[in-house]
Amino acid sequence: MAEQPLVLGIETSCDETGIGIVSGHDLLADAVASSVDEHARFGGVVPEVASRAHLEAMVPTIERACQTAGISLRDVDALAVTSGPGLAGALLVGVAAAKALALSLDKPLYGVNHLAAHVAVDQLEHGALPEPCLAMLVSGGHSSLLRVDDVTGVIDPMGATIDDAAGEAFDKVARLLGLPFPGGPHIDKEARSGSSVAIDFPRGLSSRRDLERHRFDFSFSGLKTAVARWVQARNDAGESVPVADVAASFQEAVCDVLTRKAIDAAVTAGIEDILIGGGVAANSRLRVLAEERAAAHGIRVRVPRPGLCTDNGAMVAALGAEMVARGRTPSSLDLPADSALPVTDVLV
Ligand code: KG4
Ligand code: ZN
Repeated sequence: MAEQPLVLGIETSCDETGIGIVSGHDLLADAVASSVDEHARFGGVVPEVASRAHLEAMVPTIERACQTAGISLRDVDALAVTSGPGLAGALLVGVAAAKALALSLDKPLYGVNHLAAHVAVDQLEHGALPEPCLAMLVSGGHSSLLRVDDVTGVIDPMGATIDDAAGEAFDKVARLLGLPFPGGPHIDKEARSGSSVAIDFPRGLSSRRDLERHRFDFSFSGLKTAVARWVQARNDAGESVPVADVAASFQEAVCDVLTRKAIDAAVTAGIEDILIGGGVAANSRLRVLAEERAAAHGIRVRVPRPGLCTDNGAMVAALGAEMVARGRTPSSLDLPADSALPVTDVLV
């Protein structure tokens, strides 16, 4: 059998400079340089700092990926880059680098959607995607439910957050509890020694009235405020804050709503496979609850390993490889970096 084309993917939508190299569904290299430590003291990603870090990391990260894959840039058959959505300045660095490579190597370039790439990455771990599948993407920047009929072109949004993203809520609540940024992994860890039923935090957009208009949408800002008020009341009363219980009860509220709505969406659309991606997919409680509840409905759950769930270049390369495999027309070399790229635009 002929070897699959080599595809190099570039991801710079947020604070990770990711360079991935794949051949079909085989992952050859996944080099990531993160600027997360530079943002930690601000409690969130600072766009200008991220852009500068991408510029500095780009060439060394490309070199590292090629070394790991044991290839030279000349061996690459096609390039893929995140065109959006994301931070405008950060995206620009990746798109400019990808154009320069495509031009100098004289190879086709695919400008792709970051969210679709979060879905496509699972092929590197579990093989061909079941289509249709219901993708739940939960990260610091997005929380969406997508119906995926063809990961290279037909993706329909079913629901999304109307305020904070799920990961953003984890990060903000962690800050309230004095835990470091990014807060998700710390809350996950604290929650293990706490009680998930200690405090009854609100489930956003879950009342009968909200479900009429926002059946598959999420809202996490009310939950964050409820946690803030609860913590403040304890402080005002001069009482200590039971961090583990707050973490566990907050985490339960998020995971409860996410899994309930994902399964409702899958059942409604008659879909039997749910794929969870994005940084929050690394959450241990989310994985367990999703599998438990899905199994009760005869639905299968796929979650890529944590390193592939967070932003990386492999996901972009994986989607690029799928574009090549399905014979999609490459992007033109004036493709934009579009910070607000809609998920329906999979290939730019
Ligand atoms: O996908 P990602 O690396 O970057 C984007 O935001 O696009 O996701 C990062 C987010 C952060 O908000 C982080 O707190 C959250 O994922 N996260 C987690 C866990 N690991 C990372 N949230 C909950 N539980 C975790 N174990
Ligand atoms: Zn992402």
